[in-house]
Amino acid sequence: MCGIFGCVLNQGNAAPLIHSSLKHLEYRGYDSVGIATVSDGKIVVKKDQGKIDEVHRFLNLDDMPGSVGIGHTRWATHGAPLKVNSHPHSDCTGEIVVVHNGIIENFLELKSELQNLGHNFVSKTDTEVMAHLIEEVLKQNPQLSFQQAVLESLKRIQGSYAFAILSTREPDKIICARNESPLVLGINHHGVFCASDIPAFLDVTNKAVMINNGELVILKADGYEIKKISDGSAITREPITIDWTPEMAVKQGYPHFMIKEIHEQTEVLRNTLRIQDHYLDLLSTFLDRANEVFLVACGTSYHACLAASYMFSKLAFLPTYPVYASEFIEQHGKSVNIDSTILAVSQSGETADTIAAVTCAQQRAATILSLTNVIGSSLTRISRVYIGTQAGPEIGVAATKTFTSQLSVLAQLALKLAKKRGKVSQDEIDELQIKLSKLPEYVDTVVKTQEEKIKQIAKKYVDSKVFFFLGRGISTATAFEGRLKLMEIAYIPSIAFPAGESKHGPISLVEDGFPVVFVCPKDDTHRTVIGNIMEMKARGAHIISIIEEGDQEIKSLSDDYIEVPKGIPSVLSPIPFAVPLQLLAYYTALEKGYNPDMPRNLAKSVTVK
Ligand code: F6R
Repeated sequence: MCGIFGCVLNQGNAAPLIHSSLKHLEYRGYDSVGIATVSDGKIVVKKDQGKIDEVHRFLNLDDMPGSVGIGHTRWATHGAPLKVNSHPHSDCTGEIVVVHNGIIENFLELKSELQNLGHNFVSKTDTEVMAHLIEEVLKQNPQLSFQQAVLESLKRIQGSYAFAILSTREPDKIICARNESPLVLGINHHGVFCASDIPAFLDVTNKAVMINNGELVILKADGYEIKKISDGSAITREPITIDWTPEMAVKQGYPHFMIKEIHEQTEVLRNTLRIQDHYLDLLSTFLDRANEVFLVACGTSYHACLAASYMFSKLAFLPTYPVYASEFIEQHGKSVNIDSTILAVSQSGETADTIAAVTCAQQRAATILSLTNVIGSSLTRISRVYIGTQAGPEIGVAATKTFTSQLSVLAQLALKLAKKRGKVSQDEIDELQIKLSKLPEYVDTVVKTQEEKIKQIAKKYVDSKVFFFLGRGISTATAFEGRLKLMEIAYIPSIAFPAGESKHGPISLVEDGFPVVFVCPKDDTHRTVIGNIMEMKARGAHIISIIEEGDQEIKSLSDDYIEVPKGIPSVLSPIPFAVPLQLLAYYTALEKGYNPDMPRNLAKSVTVK
């Protein structure tokens, strides 16, 4: 999740505006920054790794000539956060520069095709192929305009993108295009702007034009033209007036980052499905060879590991041991060895307990693999192989979109390993693959159809002194996560157990009106879960169930129920089933008058042991 910005001004230098606009997009990532402007038929570029203020201090980003320019603030996905991988990226001649937010899925094929044609690549990014592709199209068809060359190039690009492109051929314009990554225009009497998000230009205008998937835009000082990428036909769209305050704008109109990030999960899950296959392949090869596998993490990331242990076991027949990172050294520090493999999971990649556990294992020659949201973090530097979870920066302290993105990557990994080991039939793999690709849709449906209902449930139970969260099998992990969310932001003491364990002690707490949340996908555990619900009901508990749509049996036993779309396989269920629990925690915190973005005593990244 990077931020892009571009502007074509009637007069004056573009660079200071690009610089200040990128600052408003820094929440989208700050691994590196870069600006390109065009002046006297030449493109000037300034870029480097680091936060915008740091880079500005030694490069002076405001001091660049020209009234047309593009800029980028990066969240590294392909290629480490280094200067060479910073945007803008250029073709061989330096006459075309590109900034990009998204993931070009077929970049490796395109890169090798272009390299065979003599193109010289300098970065490890997927973005650089676009600059060379346009160069190649123009080399082969010199009669084409800049716009036609971009349109032709886009036909070859698979994946998600918001591009802003500059060329010395037609230095008075910027060409933008969108597929799945956000793009919006701003307009005032000084010029036209393109950006990943409205806050980028809200200081200078509140007139915005939303760009849709499959559209290309030509920005010129006297206005903008929108065209369909598929056939180049023109689209007319008038600006709308945005009445957000700057604070609302950063949250895209949502009152809190947490709810914005819960809603973003649909988009994030789409991104996780674009993870390069060879990374999954490499990681699964290491797992396949491992003698023993520890899944190491803290908090929410630990719950993702717990769910993953069911995924690896059910799909790939690989036993794994989920361990709290803070316990790892005491529990396994002496026995871990060269035959051990650690798969560490961490949103931040900086959590002190996780880093300490991994460092201990590394010193004892274990193989370190990891999953993190922050490429370039300490965890990526210690790991033999790592995968980025593609969730984009998470600002809300409570992890939401990073949890579901971790689960999506772990499920893909388990599926890859299952294929490798030949443990699951091809039909089953195909079916799971289809369901995986529908996860964004399922999550979207949950949010769209259940949010209002969850608000009412939060109102009804807000005064409860304690909550129980129960699930069986993989849903134990979902129940644990639901409990953590409610406790950390609504400050309601909560208990979570595998449902079967509740009768071995915790059930003694239950009395009339005691709220028990049951996570009930329609899987092998369904029948037994019904028994557990009966046990609770018999003691006066109020049952709030998260069920598959149309599950009449559990509906009839529940005081309140929240529905998730039908037909989701057990191993994927924690992703859509966790979403109602995130919403329940969020709305309960609001009912209690707490700010869910800033829970007391907590920090986003826990860098102390
Ligand atoms: C809970 C939460 C924490 C983190 C934990 C690990 O909502 O955010 O429990 O999951 O501190 O953090 P990472 O994943 O950054 O290692």
